[in-house]
This record gives sequence, C-alpha cells and structure tokens, in this order.
Amino acid sequence: MFSLAGKTVVVTGGGKGIGLGISTRMALQGANVVMTGRSLPALESAALGLAEQGGKVLPVRADLTNPADTERVVNTTLATFGRLDGWVNNAGSASPDDVGPLIDIREDQWDRVVDLNFKWAFFASQAAARAMKDGGSIVNITSRSASYANPRTGHYGAAKAAMENLTLTMAAEWGHLGIRVNAVAPGVVLTEELAKTLNTEERLRKQIEMVPLQRIGRPDDIAGLCVYLVSDASSWTSGALIPVHGGSPIPFGYISYMRKANRQDNVKHGGRGEI
Ligand SMILES: NC(=O)c1ccc[n+]([C@@H]2O[C@H](COP(=O)([O-])OP(=O)(O)OC[C@H]3O[C@@H](n4cnc5c(N)ncnc54)[C@H](OP(=O)(O)O)[C@@H]3O)[C@@H](O)[C@H]2O)c1
Repeated sequence: MFSLAGKTVVVTGGGKGIGLGISTRMALQGANVVMTGRSLPALESAALGLAEQGGKVLPVRADLTNPADTERVVNTTLATFGRLDGWVNNAGSASPDDVGPLIDIREDQWDRVVDLNFKWAFFASQAAARAMKDGGSIVNITSRSASYANPRTGHYGAAKAAMENLTLTMAAEWGHLGIRVNAVAPGVVLTEELAKTLNTEERLRKQIEMVPLQRIGRPDDIAGLCVYLVSDASSWTSGALIPVHGGSPIPFGYISYMRKANRQDNVKHGGRGEI
C-alpha cells in the first residue's frame, strides 16, 4: 500500500536538507526520483549516494524561478521515465538578506521570497498537473509559519499561507483529473543550512524547550508523510494541510521577538526600537 514502485516523483530542491530526506525515502520506497536544484555538484553527489543504496535517481539542474527550467524538468522526467506520478514542491526559503521587520521590508526582498515560495511553486504545480496523464499527487511543503504571526519573516509566512490556500483550490479544481494536492507544514527541522544559525547548544536548547516531543525535527520526519501522500495509501486524501512539528505549533521566532520587543521601552511607547 505504501510502496512507490513504478511511480515517478520529482522533488524540487531534492538534493539538500528536507528535500534530500524526501528524495531518499521516495527512492527507498521504490520510486524513480528526479531531484532538482540550482547546484548540480550537490545534486550529483546526493544522487550518487542514493544510487549506491539502490535508488533510481536522476539529478536535474533547474532554478524553480525560471519557467523554462521547470518545463525542462517535466520533459526530461517524461523522456527518461515515461510518466509523472508525484511532484513535491519542496524548494523554498527566505535568505537572511531578504528578511526583517515588515516596517523595513523592501519590494525586491518581498518579491524574491514571495515569488519563490508562492508564485513559482504554483506554476511548478501547474506544469506537473498538465503532465500527470494518469492522475497523480502534488505535495506542497509549506511551514507552520503559514498559520501564525512571523515577526521578521512575515512575507515568508504569508507566502506559505497563500500556498496552503491555493492547495485547497488546486485540490478542488484538479480532483476530477485524479490529481490530489496536499500540503505538509513542518516546524523546525535541522538541516545543514539551519545549523549555521542554530549553531550553539543554547540556541538549540531554546528551540527544543518549545517542542512537546522534546527534539528538533529531522528531514526524515517530513519524508514519511510525503511518501504516504504520494502512495496509494492516501488515494482519498486531498486538500489536506498537515502540520508536522513535534506538537509545537508556535514559531519560536514569535516568542523571542515578543520577549525582546517588550523589553524595549521605545517599542512599548510606540517607537520602532532595534530588535
Ligand atoms: N528547515 C526548516 O526548519 C523548515 C521549516 C518549515 C518549512 N521549511 C520548508 O521546507 C522546504 C525545504 O527547506 P530546507 O530547510 O530543507 O531548505 P534548505 O536546506 O535551504 O534547502 C533548500 C533546497 O531548495 C533548493 N532551492 C532553493 N532555491 C531554489 C531555486 N530557486 N530553484 C531550485 N531549487 C532551489 C536548494 O538547492 P540549491 O541551493 O542547489 O538550489 C535546496 O535543495 C522549504 O520550502 C522551506 O520553506 C523548512
């Protein structure tokens, strides 16, 4: 029921972080996996590791923000494996250079974050749906940030919330085509990238204190649900927005921002303050 044998799945940003966890589990469950990303060496080394474990994987360099690249991913997938059954919109982020309090956010920062996490994730879904001739499953990796206030990353949370709303409409419009669309909303998952910020015992401890299950997430914690959502086990699941956060729905950034903001007299009295 949970086997992915005979299915072909594209994982955007599939060579690093959560995406690599998803690619790995998909491959181990028997899927043909197409992993995309902008850095080919990273993809090739990840693909080699998976091939050594018996996975059927194809690395394809592609920038999600370039529609010609997405079209090439679809065409290469169909040319290589003959079909497309699953598409995981995992590529996404908010670079440290593009975040800050909303009062200071610039249009170019807004555009980079909202376009990557919302606009291009949607057009990738559309390209995938058009290529899924026998139906299929689209999984959007959003964030628990979609459902809460996100001081300093407000536009990122809003983009993820928009993607969750669109997930509902895609599920409604494409259900009659046999295409299921769901969203997976992670809490904090420790990746190589995030480890650059959560780089002290103290920072890790503060994050873990917020999590009822008493640990930070791992890419594999997200991957299992993605396997389920692409497998036939979920054949009556569509339009679902599923959190995976160890029981911790509130972004840590919210708590820490409020603590700092309320310690600053000028903010208390209506000024901006430096947080
Ligand atoms: N980690 C967390 O705590 C967390 C929490 C909630 C939600 N999420 C979401 O989970 C997803 C994965 O996050 P992550 O933490 O694993 O991120 P990550 O470690 O920074 O990896 C991001 C992946 O996306 C790819 N990528 C970024 N921009 C791209 C673009 N323009 N075109 C193609 N690929 C691109 C990257 O590959 P290249 O650099 O090679 O392009 C990389 O493979 C994201 O959607 C993120 O918003 C993460």
